[in-house]
Amino acid sequence: KRPAGAPDKALARKVTKVGVVGAGLMASQLALLFARNLRVPVVMTDLDEERVAKGVAYVHAEIAKSLEAGKIGRDRANHLTSLVTGSTTKDGFADADLVIEAVFEEMSVKKQVWAEVEAVVSPECILASNTSSLSITEMAEELQHPERVVGLHFFNPVAVMPLLEIIPGDKTDDAALATAFATGKGLKKTTILVKDSASFIVNRLLGRFMGEFSKIVDEGTPVQVAEKAVAGLAPMPPFVLLGLVGPAIALHNSETLHRAFGDRFHVSPNLQKMVELKKPGYYQIVDGKPVVDPEVEAAF
Ligand code: 3HC
Repeated sequence: KRPAGAPDKALARKVTKVGVVGAGLMASQLALLFARNLRVPVVMTDLDEERVAKGVAYVHAEIAKSLEAGKIGRDRANHLTSLVTGSTTKDGFADADLVIEAVFEEMSVKKQVWAEVEAVVSPECILASNTSSLSITEMAEELQHPERVVGLHFFNPVAVMPLLEIIPGDKTDDAALATAFATGKGLKKTTILVKDSASFIVNRLLGRFMGEFSKIVDEGTPVQVAEKAVAGLAPMPPFVLLGLVGPAIALHNSETLHRAFGDRFHVSPNLQKMVELKKPGYYQIVDGKPVVDPEVEAAF
């Protein structure tokens, strides 16, 4: 059964090669997911060799972990490793059927990326944004082919979280949308059709929860006390989740929601401090365990 509003799946285009813009953690997780589940070549790009090498190394290390854990055999591991490559140019996108971006959450950056990608890809290539909060319609408005732009919003950790939000912009056509749903199915995700509004569904709901949690902390309740209060309500403590999402993305999300919906959404001064200090969160992960970062605690 098709999700409500999804177009006829017969319109979906076959995806035989994928481009990924960005080689950060989210982009790397996406590259691995596409290679693993669609079994197609994936080329990752970023601004410099170092970032590209880091992203590709992450993917190859995750494949090696799966091999060591006995989740996949050696042939499959070798094949997967060969599928994911990196480049500092977008030339490898020329024969891609789908390009997904996971770059910085800033509209001007996304627009610039799409303009560069559009200069390389075929007119049929689907352009998918993993934005967590920005408008798909606005992102596509200056392109020659805005009808092939669609939001594909994945969640962290990408390999584990089952949901995929699919967001059409005003001009997205049925072929792009059908390809998005077919791709989501191929990736073994639960797909839902979501309106192009600030932070879509999940981050809007999460924004209220995290915003209220941060407000309680901003008002003086110690983090550990507030976290005890919600133990059992959430799959992980809110500020551990904050580290997983990244303070800069969380702050950006709260600002987008505040702009769209006003004071229902809290922009936390403590979160702003974490971003100014360039900290990965309230906790540092040491040997897989969250340990309070003393500098962040002192700044609160
Ligand atoms: N990468 C890959 N796999 C991971 C992983 C990671 N970072 N973290 C956990 N896993 C895997 C484990 O390997 C394990 O796999 P296995 O069953 O095959 O061995 C499985 O997930 C379960 O892991 P654990 O038993 O260690 O831990 P938990 O049962 O506590 O589950 C969790 C971990 C799934 C991450 C869980 O804590 C959770 O659901 N947390 C909430 C995550 C969440 O809300 N994410 C959404 C954030 S919002 C977002 O991403 C949107 C963006 O736009 C901001």
